[in-house]
Amino acid sequence: MHADILQQSSLRELRDDEEKPYELLLLADEKREAIQQYIHDAKIYILEKDAEKIAVFVLQEVTTMSVEIKNIAVAEAYQGKGIGKYLLREAAQIAREMGYEDLLIGTANGSIMQIYLYQKEGFEIAGIRKNFFTDNYPKPIYENGIHCKHMIVFQKKL
Ligand code: ACO
Repeated sequence: MHADILQQSSLRELRDDEEKPYELLLLADEKREAIQQYIHDAKIYILEKDAEKIAVFVLQEVTTMSVEIKNIAVAEAYQGKGIGKYLLREAAQIAREMGYEDLLIGTANGSIMQIYLYQKEGFEIAGIRKNFFTDNYPKPIYENGIHCKHMIVFQKKL
């Protein structure tokens, strides 16, 4: 854990009048149109270091009891330093304070690191959105040499 980066950074909700951080959002979701489907009725949280936006996560209500992390991304230069883990914990804390009971997050069947990270952070498999990527994305997506067809949905009790 690079505690110094987190000490020099601050997390806050993006205001409605601020530009959406597409450069970061596109790291987690390669289709801008897909991001536009959820970004306008979601809450966007950004991690800033020296006025630079270095990470983001997006929360969207699913039901009155559950909320989903629709997008989570750390700028490439800052990946692998514990920031993703920190953001997942902060997202859980924020969702808990908002009164939700469940936090959801989905990722592709080929996203091995994300599948590892979410389970390590206490998320459990709750379901599969079968053919989510083949149905919603025009080109085949490959990660770790695996054709990403389905979305695995994880859930954490808050
Ligand atoms: N390969 C293998 N393991 C890794 C790697 C890697 N390249 N990078 C990190 N890890 C491990 C770490 O060792 C750590 O495990 P540990 O606790 O056992 O040491 C764990 O993964 C978490 O590492 P962090 O440093 O907290 O992860 P990071 O800050 O990189 O954030 C994230 C993870 C958000 C996935 C980031 O890498 C990223 O932005 N990737 C591109 C966008 C993306 O894929 N977003 C998620 C898509 S799904 C969605 O948005 C809902």
